[in-house]
Amino acid sequence: MEKQLNTLHQKQQQALLGGGQKRIDDQHKKGKLTARERIDLLVDAGSFEEIGMLVEHRGRDFGLDKEIYPGDGVVTGYATVNGRVVYLFSQDFTVFGGSLSETHAEKICKIMDLALKNGAPVIGLNDSGGARIQEGVVSLGGYADIFYRNTIASGVVPQISAILGPCAGGAVYSPAITDFIMMVEQTSYMFVTGPNVVKTVTHEDVTSEELGGAQAHASKSGVTHFTFANEVECINNIKKLLRYIPQNCDEQAPLYNYEPGNEIREKLNTIIPANPNQPYDIREIINEIADEASFFEVHKDYAENIVVGFALIGGRSVGIVANQPAVLAGVLDINSSKKGARFVRFCDCFNIPLLTLVDVPGFLPGTDQEWHGIITNGAKLLYAFSEATVPKLTVIVRKAYGGAYDVMNSKHIGADMNYAWPNAEIAVVGAKGAAEIIFRKEIAAAQNPEAKLKEVMDNYAENFAHPYKAAARGFVDEVIEPAQTRAKLIRAFAMTENKAVKLPRKKHGNIPL
Ligand code: HXC
Repeated sequence: MEKQLNTLHQKQQQALLGGGQKRIDDQHKKGKLTARERIDLLVDAGSFEEIGMLVEHRGRDFGLDKEIYPGDGVVTGYATVNGRVVYLFSQDFTVFGGSLSETHAEKICKIMDLALKNGAPVIGLNDSGGARIQEGVVSLGGYADIFYRNTIASGVVPQISAILGPCAGGAVYSPAITDFIMMVEQTSYMFVTGPNVVKTVTHEDVTSEELGGAQAHASKSGVTHFTFANEVECINNIKKLLRYIPQNCDEQAPLYNYEPGNEIREKLNTIIPANPNQPYDIREIINEIADEASFFEVHKDYAENIVVGFALIGGRSVGIVANQPAVLAGVLDINSSKKGARFVRFCDCFNIPLLTLVDVPGFLPGTDQEWHGIITNGAKLLYAFSEATVPKLTVIVRKAYGGAYDVMNSKHIGADMNYAWPNAEIAVVGAKGAAEIIFRKEIAAAQNPEAKLKEVMDNYAENFAHPYKAAARGFVDEVIEPAQTRAKLIRAFAMTENKAVKLPRKKHGNIPL
């Protein structure tokens, strides 16, 4: 037995070294951790069970037969994170640049299959030069096998992708299908074609960082949901994110022990400025409503006119979608609609109740928006809220104008409880717009058109710029003092926790993509 044990230990030692000490040192010099160091940071100490440590590639061309590393460039297995089972893969850049071979792909597929059967999240730590060039089409096939599983697992188990190095070519499409992408500044990038190809095709001079670095994808493309200064912060935030989401689509959202106290928050009576056109930061309201320091913002730097993220309210994990009056007056546009819709759909997949905070002057006008499809894209948010069957609560904290009133989780598209603050303005258009359209002739004919405009505007505002017409119809269930909002929401989320809605039988809907 001693001899056999020695052989086993030797093989294990070799696998632990990946592509060798020199390449590990190079990885560290680039400010990156190794695949195994990342796993150690992520999982509960001693909980990692590796699968496929001794898998070897089957490539025989271009000298591959002479270069064999046990594990083949990816460490896969399962572990616990804060006591909950997760399946994970961590690409090892020290082995052929973490490139994806046939067997590398098979290892990833194996843990994805296990995750799907056993109902637990999949976490991918990506650091890869893409398809293993020496292997050709079997590598491309391996990618497609992963993409297929990403798609089948979508909405069944949460999938989280951390990009901790290069992610080029078709490799970006696996993370893109997963629920959340996290990137690290300066060391990770994602693009379909790199700077050299870009230069050849479009003659643009662009660096990797500018083209597909963390900042570009956080603020310009919206491809990444989070960016972090370093890998440790990134991995800590994977753990944090997991706190808000269940293991799979059959589980309820997490509900943590919570000691009820005085839930009246007087500060909420003072946040909205006296002037209805003055901006303020919606996060001030969110932080007063949510349990202390529990708001975990998603997609923070993208389409900042809408704020989305998870929070605990009375210990219950909820998803929050809120217009942000501090940016573009909180107007809905193409990007904010897409951002909101994707978040709503994630929450609905995983039974996370939704809270919508409304302060929206309408949809953004203009040729740019129209020609880029505000109609189709705005409809995404409308569709996402409408099809969501999780408990849905709405608070109109100030403006709810036009189509945006309907879209922002109105009673009409299935919200369970709709509240409004007494200062709420709910109407088709603002007083000025209304006056100029419906009293255009009277204003033009008046001796003093300015005075007439003011008169009809005041009249319109008095009639419509308040929540009581909506309350009289039951479109708003209750007009509440802002200070009571948190207490009301805690009760309403408890009241709706067994909500069961069945949509008509269908294969799947056809969201306006
Ligand atoms: C095989 C690869 C590799 C690859 C890197 N290596 N990428 N081996 N296949 N795709 C190897 C290198 O030969 C090198 O081996 C080691 O990994 C580290 O690479 P370096 O170039 O020294 O590292 P660095 O300077 O950090 O650059 C990293 C990189 C670069 C930017 C990723 O290596 C690169 O551009 N690689 C090729 C990217 C690419 O074109 N991939 C295919 C994309 S198409 P040694 O032995 O020296 O350590 C694709 C199709 C998928 O992925 C389609 C799915 C639908």
